[in-house]
Amino acid sequence: MRKAAAVAFSAAAALSAARALGAPSLKAAAAARGLFLGAAVDAPALADDADYARVLGEQFDMLTPENAMKFDVLHPRPGFAAGSYDFAQADAVVAFARSRGMRVRGHTLVWHRTHPAWAAALSREQQREVLQNHVQTVVAHFRGKIYCWDVVNEAVADDGTLRRRSWAALGPGYIADAFRWARVADPGAKLFYNDYVDGYPHGPMPAKIDGILRLVRRLKQEGVPIDGVGLQMHLAAGLHYGDLRELIRRFARLGVEVHITELDVAVVSAGAAARHLLGQEPFSGELRLQAQMYGEVVGACAAVPACKAVVVWGFTDKHTWLPLFSPTIFDARYAPKPAYEAVRRALADPSS
Ligand code: G3I
Repeated sequence: MRKAAAVAFSAAAALSAARALGAPSLKAAAAARGLFLGAAVDAPALADDADYARVLGEQFDMLTPENAMKFDVLHPRPGFAAGSYDFAQADAVVAFARSRGMRVRGHTLVWHRTHPAWAAALSREQQREVLQNHVQTVVAHFRGKIYCWDVVNEAVADDGTLRRRSWAALGPGYIADAFRWARVADPGAKLFYNDYVDGYPHGPMPAKIDGILRLVRRLKQEGVPIDGVGLQMHLAAGLHYGDLRELIRRFARLGVEVHITELDVAVVSAGAAARHLLGQEPFSGELRLQAQMYGEVVGACAAVPACKAVVVWGFTDKHTWLPLFSPTIFDARYAPKPAYEAVRRALADPSS
């Protein structure tokens, strides 16, 4: 363990040294293209891993709490009183961001996968009160500290229709209501709809893309305060996702800001999983494929003026939701992977 820690320290220290010697950070390269470069942040790792905090602060100027702002984490206990909320983890992540001058993407106020059991057991009327109280209380708690909120996440099913379960049981107006409640609670925060448009192992999902376009177009026609769309981009190395620039332009043509909100490129292979279990990274050929896809997505965003941010969903294979598939741009010892250089190249020349 000591050896691995020493190697980890040396890699992170080497990166810090490179920064000190003037090698531009990813955030500086992104800023030169008018982009924010963000990362999803694991709150326990931020609290416990000094290298994690160092590399995060050096390389990124935006962050999304990976889990700390989700409904089931912020509002674990029934009711509306202060005691039913728990802001501790989220406050620590926001405090780190503010200490480093980083923007914060709030994630996410309304999502069917984080609908706590205590709320789901209530009547429709009671659930609507709970949802309104949650959105107003949470957005007000962070007022002035959030660049944008993922107000609603993944409300469109893979076939392009609106999901019917969870919060959707409150009726189709719940999406517009959530945006309106959030706007009143913090007029300074941009409000986003966030969703995935890619499905392993299929690649792009045309029906779902059309469904999201329909939803956002309708919200804007109804005068709902929506400022942006987040495209998640959880990709698999080697799959083809079509013309990403045109995909981003299709959403930009709605008159909204576009963010790539959850970019990671999983190396989905038995070899990668086996090497992970041996404490090793995937084979170099797989890492090159992964790098190519990171570059394509970042280049696509940099090429479309309405695309203002790329957020990677985790930045080190040491702390990731997909440990078997090494999906991030730094390895488990904080050494930059080929994907890191691919991101830098794409920011320098999006056509590359
Ligand atoms: O913190 C608890 C811990 O106390 C407990 O011991 C442990 C075992 O039950 O669970 C821990 O919570 C887990 C949490 O991640 C933190 O590790 C939850 O069970 C687990 O469901 C949660 O998974 C997250 C998932 O969203 C569901 O919220 C993943 O980390 C996170 O990467 C993933 O991210 C989502 C985006 O929010 C939306 N887009 C898709 C993306 C991937 O699914």
